[in-house]
Amino acid sequence: MPSSRHPTSWSASTDLVRENEIRRGEIAVDAPAPTDAGLVFIGTILTPWASRLMAPRQGRADGPVCRIEIFPLWQEALAGIEQFERLEVLYWLHLSRRDLVRQSPANDGSARGTFALRSPVRPNPIGTSIVTLVGVEGSTLLVRGLDCLDGTPLLDLKPDRALFTPIAPPQPGDFEVG
Ligand SMILES: C[S@@+](CC[C@H](N)C(=O)[O-])C[C@H]1O[C@@H](n2cnc3c(N)ncnc32)[C@H](O)[C@@H]1O
Repeated sequence: MPSSRHPTSWSASTDLVRENEIRRGEIAVDAPAPTDAGLVFIGTILTPWASRLMAPRQGRADGPVCRIEIFPLWQEALAGIEQFERLEVLYWLHLSRRDLVRQSPANDGSARGTFALRSPVRPNPIGTSIVTLVGVEGSTLLVRGLDCLDGTPLLDLKPDRALFTPIAPPQPGDFEVG
């Protein structure tokens, strides 16, 4: 059954919301019920944006400082993070619909495949941003470069791969080319 939370066909109605509507050219599928893959949220992201219509499309390095609050259980996992100027942040775009396979970001009737976009609307609504680490206050990170809503659940944090050298010994695959 198509989700009752979202429209599944385009309508010219003028009272469409601009968050979960179907646009001309877009295609939704009867997506499986979300099971959230057994992920655990490890914290909450606090940002200035309460609305999807106000948040930046992509975070910017000179954007406002946001707070990433790690749940106490995971605080120890922050050890050493302060040595990295940039981090990769993975978050769960929890308000997104998840059933579109073609989307029309410009809302002009032309539509592109979901996997050719960085839209928040995807079967598994994972968002990623490279952020600048501004400070660490206990279990809270202060960062610039986010684009998510206030209260967005946090999935993971990693050092930016460009700054990270593997610590574990090399393995044969490290030398494979071609
Ligand atoms: C285009 S996505 C990009 C996300 C991430 N930087 C990426 O490329 O994977 C950013 C947009 O997602 C929407 N958004 C932000 N937080 C959200 C949330 N928690 N649930 C659903 N949509 C969200 C906002 O409209 C925001 O402008």
